[in-house]
Amino acid sequence: MREERRLPHKRDGLQFLKTKTAYVIFVVLTYAFGYFSAYYYLQPPSPATTALRTSDDTTKTHDCSIDNFRITTRCGDLLPPELIRRTVIDRIFNGTSPYTDFPPPHAGKFLRRKRIKGWGSYGLVFENLIRRVKPRTIVEIGTFLGASAIHMANLTRRLGLEETQILCVDDFRGWPGFRDRFKDVALVNGDVLLMYQFMQNVVSSGFSGSILPVPFSTGSGLEKLCEWGVTADLVEIDAGHDFNSAWADINRAVRILRPGGVLFGHDYFTAADNRGVRRAVNLFAEINRLKVKTDGQHWVIDSINLI
Ligand SMILES: *[C@@H]1O[C@H](CO)[C@@H](O)[C@H](O)[C@H]1NC(C)=O
Ligand SMILES: *[C@@H]1O[C@H](CO)[C@@H](O)[C@H](O)[C@H]1NC(C)=O
Repeated sequence: MREERRLPHKRDGLQFLKTKTAYVIFVVLTYAFGYFSAYYYLQPPSPATTALRTSDDTTKTHDCSIDNFRITTRCGDLLPPELIRRTVIDRIFNGTSPYTDFPPPHAGKFLRRKRIKGWGSYGLVFENLIRRVKPRTIVEIGTFLGASAIHMANLTRRLGLEETQILCVDDFRGWPGFRDRFKDVALVNGDVLLMYQFMQNVVSSGFSGSILPVPFSTGSGLEKLCEWGVTADLVEIDAGHDFNSAWADINRAVRILRPGGVLFGHDYFTAADNRGVRRAVNLFAEINRLKVKTDGQHWVIDSINLI
């Protein structure tokens, strides 16, 4: 279908092929394709993936393949939004909310009642999008101390969206050396208590009923959410800002976005990491023929329907 649409502009296409941009896209695509296909073939198919691929059940499935990158075939059967919190608690926390009996005795004395610091966490983009999308499920990729997640929970509550759940995918390790600036986040035998401080912030703000940590790397966390059929109306990306991280997060995030959902993220304009965020966002938009809008420091891609 996309091919046909392109035909009338064949001559433009030829001109385009001679440009620098085309060359850069070609190089990146070649790299990405090699990377993903190598990964694909090195990994023995996990039983779960095999089951998904070979199952011929007739229930509605959420096919979110991005075939040009061969990331995977599709996600698990669509989970109704009201089951998402329960499912995450069952699958990740063995049926018990992580907030039960929190904080544990060994950690309580190291935590501050509320220790919140974020970057761009109070931008108008959050309110603009939550008002417009009225999300039932939000996934945040890159949470740190929870500033923007808590802000979003506050907004959903004020806007009367009582049911909204926010899943925070983060390994809660910060980054190597982050304690140079956050000495008050304790380190106990080499284990930084970032997730506990995040949870403490959530509890102190009164949002433990609507925010859950998904304490894994963005790669493995998003892979599992996809496999469990979790989809979000709104996905915010604010994890690694280098091109490879941002690119992987965007392409994984889009698979758990419900059709027509909105993807957005921080630091479109930052020069950090060689403008990795902006290059990843622009390349993703260009390949998928989507439009990037900006709202403050954030980028927004609306109404994504790639499946
Ligand atoms: C999960 O919880 C059940 C009790 O609800 C317990 O018997 C079981 O050992 C737990 N499993 C793990 C892996 O912790
Ligand atoms: C929620 O938002 C209101 C209004 O902006 C603010 O006064 C309040 O401190 C916020 N609460 C939390 C827990 O962030």
